[in-house]
Amino acid sequence: MKTRVTVNGEGYERDVEPRMLLSDFLRHELGLTGTNVGCEHGVCGSCTVLLDGEPVRSCTMLAVQCDSRRLTTVEGLACDEKLHGLQDAFSACHGLQCGFCTPGMLMTLLPIYNEARRLNDDEIREAISGNLCRCTGYQQIVEAARKALGEAADMADPCVESRA
Ligand code: FES
Ligand code: FES
Repeated sequence: MKTRVTVNGEGYERDVEPRMLLSDFLRHELGLTGTNVGCEHGVCGSCTVLLDGEPVRSCTMLAVQCDSRRLTTVEGLACDEKLHGLQDAFSACHGLQCGFCTPGMLMTLLPIYNEARRLNDDEIREAISGNLCRCTGYQQIVEAARKALGEAADMADPCVESRA
């Protein structure tokens, strides 16, 4: 089936089997291997991408379901060779060990970052509760999320500039 998608702002058209998973489409058809596949049945969250701005599990969606829709993968985060604020914070706070879960963590947090919502640690834990980290470095991941979300909220707060 002809499938047209916009991924990270770029348009693609491919003829795909109706049964092809979105995760396989991204990795094998488009070569976007940043989206990791762990459990392949919607449990670990490592394959999370944004579909029209909302996080989805790409291992439980079909590529054809995304026809004419907009996707964002982890490759869409860095811009002009500059890391995204979430990536910066994960690096600064040692929020990754092997890095396998990291793309999914970042994409799960991205809509919250974009909305400039400041979350407390309990809310951050709740937000990433669908993402498993096999290295179990959750404390640093929470610290990274707190840092990034706090900075995004500060930037969105018009009072911050006048206070600075
Ligand atoms: S690979 Fe999709 S949720 Fe685990
Ligand atoms: S950093 Fe290794 S799985 Fe999370």
